[in-house]
Amino acid sequence: MATQSDWTPRSWRDYPVTQSPHWPDLDHLHAVEAELAKKPPLVFAGEARRLQTQLAQASAGKAFLLQAGDCAESFHEASADAIRDKLKVILQMAVALTYAAGVPVIKVGRIAGQFAKPRSDDFEERQGIRLEAFRGHLVNSEEFSAEARRPDPDRLLAAYHQSVSTLNLLRAFTTGGFAALSRVHAWNQEFVANSLEGKRYEVIADEIERALAFMRACGIDLHDDQSLQGVDFFTSHEALILPYEQALTRQDSLTGDWYDCSAHLLWIGDRTRQLDGAHVAFLRGVANPLGLKVGPSMNVDELKALVEVLNPANTPGRLTLISRMGTERIAEKLPSLVQALRDEGRTELWTCDPMHGNTFKAVGGQKTRDFEDILSETAQFFAVHQELNTWPGGLHVELTGDDVTECLGGGSAWNEDDLDLNYTSICDPRLNATQSLDMAFHVAEFLRDFRRD
Ligand code: TRP
Ligand code: MN
Repeated sequence: MATQSDWTPRSWRDYPVTQSPHWPDLDHLHAVEAELAKKPPLVFAGEARRLQTQLAQASAGKAFLLQAGDCAESFHEASADAIRDKLKVILQMAVALTYAAGVPVIKVGRIAGQFAKPRSDDFEERQGIRLEAFRGHLVNSEEFSAEARRPDPDRLLAAYHQSVSTLNLLRAFTTGGFAALSRVHAWNQEFVANSLEGKRYEVIADEIERALAFMRACGIDLHDDQSLQGVDFFTSHEALILPYEQALTRQDSLTGDWYDCSAHLLWIGDRTRQLDGAHVAFLRGVANPLGLKVGPSMNVDELKALVEVLNPANTPGRLTLISRMGTERIAEKLPSLVQALRDEGRTELWTCDPMHGNTFKAVGGQKTRDFEDILSETAQFFAVHQELNTWPGGLHVELTGDDVTECLGGGSAWNEDDLDLNYTSICDPRLNATQSLDMAFHVAEFLRDFRRD
């Protein structure tokens, strides 16, 4: 493994690359990489450092990370309305968590770059025809035809441009007044407002407005206070397609450190976390805050080795561990991992992804998840940390602002017969806006009940 000093943005190429598409035309790929390398960065080093400072607060038990967004963003679903509605749900969840639990919430989207998917099989076969698996719109398209499934390097450029426009809109929304706390009622979409969760949200929003009015009556006009005018909103995605990530990696003129400027935070998936593999070799050298998915096959020795490589100085905020065990396995698998790192004085932040270990096929064949399983895994995550006296530092969920019917139960009480009503995900099933809000209220309660000794 390259040491930090001989790391370069391309040194990952000396290691085995898992989950790599079968690019049919490498010259075309290289031309696109050269073009991307000349583009302006999507995010800036100083912003990534700001996120890392906030994550360090969370790792000290003083903040909570909310990481949320699509499983896979789509080239066909990037309207301003869709982005705005997703942001509304995330802001609502953040309000519920901040207000009900009294803990600052760090807001990170799976957005503006979450276009690539790891697959369990490289190929998919239907009726004797064998094609490249769908790997997300960064690589190919989901239709089952030779044309759609052929990996196309031009998609790297298309993904960059869609990320630019998504991020531009997010920056406008989060700093331009839309996210100001005085607009807390405006984020409750009509179909949400009519639900039980929506009404519960209205109560909190009323209380916040009343608190602000009270302070104003006392002579303190908090409406002018900068911190209430907007939010810090950060982007993240799985760093899967390394030619794309390398092409957007830039050296920071201030510190000389390398940053992957495709997003503020990049994570390594459970399928690409090999210690001697290309993904670890690449990400260890960039100074962004990193995420690492931790699935049920992870053992204590592997985890210790990975945190040592990805966070050699044990820097708070550098590495976020995203547990995705499944509700059946978390109680068996998670405690020994948390305990091992705790006993070594590690500073990594533990967060819970209660989605990916709980996917199953419904009777109609659709991929789905049951809200009860999602909630149960989250509850167990908090219980493990309560038991070990460590901080349950965050929640990682797949959601959308739309009224979809992809997950069962929760605020919207969908069952298996309803899944076809509005199933629009191109990959995994997402919580809809009401289910997301329901989840936030439950997690706020878990946080409020969490005892620190
Ligand atoms: N800036 C503060 C924060 O991010 C307060 C705030 C403003 C806020 N707008 C918000 C909190 C929207 C949650 C949602 O916490
Ligand atoms: Mn997913």
